[in-house]
Parts: sequence; structure tokens; C-alpha cells
Amino acid sequence: MPDDTLTITDNRTGQTYSVPIENGTIRAMNLRQIKTSPEDFGLMTYDPAFMNTASCRSSITYIDGDQGILRYRGYPIEVLAERCTFLEVAYLLLFGDLPTEAELKGWVHDITHHTMLHESTKMFMEGFRYDGHPMGMFVSTVAALSTVYPDARHVHDSANRLLQIKRLIGKVPSIAAMSYRHNVGFPYVYPDNDLSYAENFMNMLWKMVEPKYVAQPAIARALDILFILHADHEQNCGTNAMRSVSSAQTDPYLSMASAAAALAGPLHGGANEEVLKMLDEIGSKDKVPAYIKKVKDGGVKLMGFGHRIYKNYDPRAKIIKWTAEQVFEVTGRNPKLEIALELERIALEDEYFVKRKLYPNVDFYSGIMYQAMGFRPEMFTVLFAIPRTAGWLAQWQELITDPEQKIARPRQIYTGHEEREFVAMEKRTSGALARG
Ligand code: CMC
Repeated sequence: MPDDTLTITDNRTGQTYSVPIENGTIRAMNLRQIKTSPEDFGLMTYDPAFMNTASCRSSITYIDGDQGILRYRGYPIEVLAERCTFLEVAYLLLFGDLPTEAELKGWVHDITHHTMLHESTKMFMEGFRYDGHPMGMFVSTVAALSTVYPDARHVHDSANRLLQIKRLIGKVPSIAAMSYRHNVGFPYVYPDNDLSYAENFMNMLWKMVEPKYVAQPAIARALDILFILHADHEQNCGTNAMRSVSSAQTDPYLSMASAAAALAGPLHGGANEEVLKMLDEIGSKDKVPAYIKKVKDGGVKLMGFGHRIYKNYDPRAKIIKWTAEQVFEVTGRNPKLEIALELERIALEDEYFVKRKLYPNVDFYSGIMYQAMGFRPEMFTVLFAIPRTAGWLAQWQELITDPEQKIARPRQIYTGHEEREFVAMEKRTSGALARG
């Protein structure tokens, strides 16, 4: 008998089954043979929130949550953040290897030449309420691009996929910048092809009447590093949405809108905005112990802390902390840093957090830095979505080209009524709405 198997005895029937173990997993479908009778559907697994279920094979991103390791295509995140530009990393994620000089030049050229939005898309954005949340604008406008590029539905055509990938990576900073300009009531700024990816984004955000926008180099580099850190994070909630929706062969604009919608949630990418609100609420360093008590009493969560996968310091948070220092040298220290450092200090010593292995995650320090750079908190999650576009699209490509993948369709455990008699209107005593 081979070693890599699992023997299961069904105590209901006394039957024994042997199922193969591969890559530390068993196939859930192998459990279906375990039945109490020929009519029985067979055994399923129940795993709300996918706590212990691998939904795909992936060669893009590796995380060891216990050790605090993150690698893209085998390269440690620390090295990529130090040595690469974001577009270089986007190429790596999408195509599997770092680009040569010539490949990078071509790639940067292509992305730069896809930054423009159709005027109809601009007009679409003009229709949002003046104070609409930028993430809502971002999600809706990405979805609206599906109407501009109907050819994107040919998801099995690799040349077509590549075109949509370039369009999306090129256009997301333009959409993000327009959502900001819309909020503040400034005219939209068109892209400038002379500038790098991060510099052009800054240009579209902050150019006023000067003929040529000149980006502060340290800020542009910090933004690029932040983009690298956020580019992919394997099967998180947003990426799972991307894969799940595009498994129906939905076009990448609509699929990516769903991924960005997931990212907007406060437990996911929306946490960076929530951290800033939390620091505002705490107000000063001396109020930190009282806030920690409130967290421990279950009143609130410590935003920017904890992670489904990391049970150690999030390696991205370490790099962000370092990058923030570089930014503060230019912008001056964000006074909220004091509160954040104190929160981290107390939390890392406190038994509640130690026992649960709760450490700062990527969102804990990013907001403080973004605010010092001049971003409004509402923009923070959009800043996450721009680089994550590269990751979502890499995961999309992998899904589309994986022969094992099919339309994503989980099972359920039905807990409702058996078939019941229809109740005529005059006999109903429902109250269902009030019960909630
Ligand atoms: N503050 C206080 N307690 C927490 C926190 C927190 N931030 N996070 C987890 N816990 C507690 C939780 O109450 C539970 O305690 P108990 O065992 O007594 O019930 C225990 O730790 C395990 O937590 P969980 O909720 O089962 O963990 P999860 O894997 O389902 O949730 C998480 C992960 C990130 C949603 C959660 O840690 C959280 O809500 N953190 C705050 C929001 C946040 O910072 N999100 C950004 C995540 S990183 C960027 C991204 O992926 O987008």
C-alpha cells in the first residue's frame, strides 16, 4: 500500500476507504464514495469561510503565515520592494519571470499607452454624486469598461486577454485619480506619458495649473513600493471573488469589479481607512490602554491587526514601517504615528493578542503614510486596488488556463423546511420580516 494515502473508517457502516494525499491535501470529491446506502449522496466537507480548503493550484504567490514569509514567483517581497519597480513586479506576477531590460521597456511602453479613458467613461464618472465614496466609483467604473471593450468577453483568446490586461493596469490609476478629482471638484487631469506609473498617478491626482507636473521623487518611490507590497496576496477574499466570478467566463472588467467590491469591505482592503478612523477616535497616546481594554472586552476590533494567514508579523507591515520613515523625512511625521506605535507596543505584549497571534497587518501603517503623502482616508482602499489589479489579472490568467478549473459552485447544507403546504393569504400569521 502506498504511504501517501488516508484511511477513513465510516463508523456508520464499518466500511473503510483509502484516499490519496497529494500536496498535503485530499480531494473533497474522493469523499463522495463514502455512503450509507446506494441512494445516499455521499460525504461532503463543510468549510464556511474556506478555513481549510484549497480552491486552486497556483504558482504566483507563496505565503508562510507562521514564519511571516511572502514571495512573488519565488522572490522574497523584501527584495522586490528594494530592487524593482511596480511595473517590473506586475510583469513578474503575470508572466512568471522578471523582465529583461528590453521586455520591461516594451511592457512599460504598452501600459503607458493604455492609460487614457474614453471621454464617455469620463462622462460616466461625472454622473456620480460629488461626495460618492471613491471605492464605489472605482468598482462601478471598472465594471463600466466592459461596455467600452465588448471584445473582452473572448476570454480564451490569449492575445485578447493580454490586451485587456494592459488596458486594465494602464487605466486603473486614471480611474482612481478621477474619483479623487471628482470628490474635490477639480477638473480631471489627463495622463502624461513622460512620467513613470507612480509619477503619472500623482500627476493625475495633484496637478493644478503648472504646465508640467513634477513628482517629489521620495514620495513617488514610496508609492511604487506600496504598489509592489499590495500587488498580490494569493487566495484572499477579493482574489477569490475574481476567480469565482471569472470561472463563469465573465469578462475581466466585470470580474475585477467584483474583486474590487470585495476589497472595499472593512475586514479586507477597507481596513486601512478604518485604521485612520480608529486612530482619530483614540485621539492621543495616553488613551491607548483604554482602547485596548475596549478591544479585549469585545466592544471593537483593533483595525489593522490580525490576519487569516499570518500568525506572525506581516512582512509587508515591516517594509511599510520602514518606507513611512522615508516619507516622513519629506512630509514631516504624521502625529498619528505616535498612537499607532503605542498601540502596537501594548498589543504585542498583551496576552489577548499574543495568545491569538494578532500582529499588525499591511493596513496598520499604510494609512498613516498615505495621509502624510496627502491622500484622504477615503482614497486608501483605492490605493490598494490599483496594484492589486496586477495580482487579480495574474490569478485570472492562471484560472482561465487551468484545465482542472470549472465554474465555481460550492455545495450547501440545507437547513430549511421540508416541502410544506401552501398557506392561503387569509390564514397567514407570518411576522417573518419583523423577525429579520
Ligand atoms: N482585534 C481584536 N481581536 C481580533 C482581531 C482584531 N483585529 N482580529 C481577530 N481577533 C480575534 C477574534 O475576535 C478571535 O477571537 P476569539 O478566538 O476569542 O473569538 C480571534 O482573534 C481569531 O480571529 P478570527 O476573526 O477568527 O480570524 P479571521 O481569520 O476570521 O479574521 C481578519 C481575520 C483579518 C478578518 C481579522 O483579524 C480582522 O477583522 N482584523 C481587523 C481588520 C483588518 O485589519 N483587516 C485587514 C486584513 S490584511 C489586508 C487584507 O487582507 O485586505
